[in-house]
Amino acid sequence: MIVAIDGPAGAGKSTVAKLVASSLGLRFLDSGAMYRAVTLEVLRRGLDPARAEDCARVAASLKLDFDAQGKLSIDGRPGEPDIRGREVTSHVSAVSAHAGVRTGLVELQRSLAASWGGLVAEGRDMTSVVFPHAEHKFFLIASSLERARRRALELGTPAAAERIREELERRDRLDSTRDLAPLVCPPDARVIDTDGKSVDEVVACLLAHVRGACA
Ligand code: DC
Repeated sequence: MIVAIDGPAGAGKSTVAKLVASSLGLRFLDSGAMYRAVTLEVLRRGLDPARAEDCARVAASLKLDFDAQGKLSIDGRPGEPDIRGREVTSHVSAVSAHAGVRTGLVELQRSLAASWGGLVAEGRDMTSVVFPHAEHKFFLIASSLERARRRALELGTPAAAERIREELERRDRLDSTRDLAPLVCPPDARVIDTDGKSVDEVVACLLAHVRGACA
């Protein structure tokens, strides 16, 4: 079974997808981690994130893999926590907009789904491009105020909520307006507004839809 989940930055997709996957006995795929890995390597090699060919070459050169807990490795080394750094976060939208970067990663995402015998995948184009025929498609939303507040609490820096909100909104704008595989909500995806809901409530809501549809 394929469960695809998309939505803007900080909507809680990873947390929810991980829990839904474990309840359903499926593997979890954090597709954003793959774009972050390419961005990390582009920056490490001193390359310009705006240069499509350089970014595509980096993407093709990396061996990306996931362990059973869904943690990414890059050429056999752990990708965490470096892929979550601020520099990576601020350049990942530019790197992920290049066709030459996306082609190989989309291929890898589909082949992981095949070799894992299904999965719960989250990102920006899981419902629209990578797994358009997924059995279940969800689009998680929340106000940027709420998303920034949650992220700031997670980071232990509540005072940074306003700066984080600006960064999230900038990334949403870039991810939604790019030419290739922009963040869009397909008409057949179920929209879940997570504002004011706990993680457990959102997970229960997704599971109810999945199980309801299975019954
Ligand atoms: O989910 P995240 O915030 O870790 O994703 C980081 C970036 O990667 C996001 O801003 C856009 C890009 N991305 C993408 O283009 N396609 C995906 N399927 C997932 C993420």
